[in-house]
Amino acid sequence: MIIIYYLVLVILGLTVVVTAVVSIYVVVNILFILFVTQVPPVQTERQHFNAIFSQFRINSESVIYDIGCGGGNFLMAAAQFEPKKCVGYELSLFPFLQALIKSWFQGRGLARVYFKNFFRADLSDADFVYVYLVPPLLGRVAQKLKHELKPGAMVIVKGCPLPEISYVNKITLDAKRDYYAFVYKF
Ligand SMILES: C[S@@+](CC[C@H](N)C(=O)[O-])C[C@H]1O[C@@H](n2cnc3c(N)ncnc32)[C@H](O)[C@@H]1O
Repeated sequence: MIIIYYLVLVILGLTVVVTAVVSIYVVVNILFILFVTQVPPVQTERQHFNAIFSQFRINSESVIYDIGCGGGNFLMAAAQFEPKKCVGYELSLFPFLQALIKSWFQGRGLARVYFKNFFRADLSDADFVYVYLVPPLLGRVAQKLKHELKPGAMVIVKGCPLPEISYVNKITLDAKRDYYAFVYKF
């Protein structure tokens, strides 16, 4: 009888802890989306990586940035090509922590993740920049890329095209769901 009593207490206790942790996670994420980033930390699906890396020909001399790297899946995949530099910026707390932890185990010692606003980052040495954000931010992003990137730098934007810059290629990620990515050469 007493064992059942303790078991019920343990299960209740665990339920309370798990509910509290999940609630804190969800609430903090929502607060970051509402008041800091305006972008949900949705990650690019892994099945789209091949299409993206068929455009980004990363080699040991490449410098690649993921501006708004979320939980870091794309950045870790890029690190597998062993580029010279592989940097992600993320401004939402839990996605940043996720990406940071992944960088220790999956980043090949190359992936670097910073808790930083990418609008304040210097991208002038980039060969490749990956962008998966929301349309209201893309105007500012386009301006930054236009002013900062060196000739020859390549940008892929998942979702919507950048305003006022012509893309050189449009790749289909998932035709049924209308998912495209736009390739830019500066
Ligand atoms: C849609 S997610 C994409 C994540 C990742 N790039 C991928 O494709 O898997 C966009 C991320 O950008 C982050 N973000 C938005 N604005 C940012 C900013 N100014 N500086 C850094 N990160 C930002 C958001 O917190 C979010 O996690």
